[in-house]
Amino acid sequence: MTLNKQDVVNHMMGFFQAKAVTSALSLKVFDHFKKGGLNAQQVAAKIASPVRSTEQLLIALHAMGYLQKDGDMYVLPEEHHAFLLSDQPLWLGWLGRHIDTFLYPLWEQLPEAVKTDSNQREAVFGDNRSWFDILYQNPDDVADFQEFLGKFAQPFIEGFVNQYDFSQHRAFLDIGSGIGSLPIAVANAFPDVKLAICELPQASAFLRDKLGSQGYGERIDVVEGDVIKGYLPIGDFDLIHLGWMLHDYAPDTQVTILRNIYNAMPEGGRFIASETPLNDDKSGPEFTALLSLNMLVSTDGGIESSTSEYLERFKQAGFSNARILEIPSLVCSLWAKKQRKEALC
Ligand SMILES: C[S@@+](CC[C@H](N)C(=O)[O-])C[C@H]1O[C@@H](n2cnc3c(N)ncnc32)[C@H](O)[C@@H]1O
Repeated sequence: MTLNKQDVVNHMMGFFQAKAVTSALSLKVFDHFKKGGLNAQQVAAKIASPVRSTEQLLIALHAMGYLQKDGDMYVLPEEHHAFLLSDQPLWLGWLGRHIDTFLYPLWEQLPEAVKTDSNQREAVFGDNRSWFDILYQNPDDVADFQEFLGKFAQPFIEGFVNQYDFSQHRAFLDIGSGIGSLPIAVANAFPDVKLAICELPQASAFLRDKLGSQGYGERIDVVEGDVIKGYLPIGDFDLIHLGWMLHDYAPDTQVTILRNIYNAMPEGGRFIASETPLNDDKSGPEFTALLSLNMLVSTDGGIESSTSEYLERFKQAGFSNARILEIPSLVCSLWAKKQRKEALC
């Protein structure tokens, strides 16, 4: 691949687009278009801002394709409502807030992170506690993080539940489930499978409330645990899943996590991990490569890895016959392995 000068300019100016969108979401600009078109004066009044600067933002949002224009009226296309209106389940404002509060300030320190191979939490937040301790100290931040991850995971979850036969298992435990989207989808599709989630204590209250408000409080048990410390309520769960968590930790810690799971699993149980791996030759994909930098600035040694690196860690943890489970249309790739204690990676 070769780049031209304009590609480089576009990469560097990409933050213009990012900040225009997160600012519009933060100001809830789009919400005011729910009932129809508005001109700049009307939007300015609704967001209690000067007309001149409001119009500058509207012109940018129109130029980027978020809004359409009819005379001096701006219109939010119907197809954009699902992800831009804050009362919609797929609203992306959760991600916008997470970016503005955490990711953008951390990424500003990327040169230092690369020079020192270390996260920048202390420099940005003046706090050297773990990524999840900082993230989970404020309930609104927990909601932002878990809600947007739930949206991200949706295509993966649909593919997984449609193509993997959960009914071959008696009981399914999702470790680090976030907002519980996967167990909810399994509950809907496989009524006979017993379901539980193991989450960090700091995330559990939010999760219980969320499951309760959707009517799954009785169906899906939430157990507090810590897969690194080895506090794992695996019991007789014969299917264990770990989604998009290994990359939050350094490779050594990943092996500890996998070993803790292996040791706690019942004979004949199956373990599945889902990640977004790098290509084996580390040539991309671009999203995963950039996500790896996000792990660098935010976590303790978190990094994106290739499938062969993940499979090697499975082996080090004790799993044999680890293999890749191909599920077309996955956002996350998925592995699995099975033996007496079986693991799918
Ligand atoms: C990146 S999120 C992934 C959430 C969800 N599985 C998904 O794919 O969208 C990682 C999750 O793992 C949980 N987690 C992190 N460290 C953990 C630990 N040591 N023990 C248990 N859960 C942990 C976090 O609370 C968070 O919900």
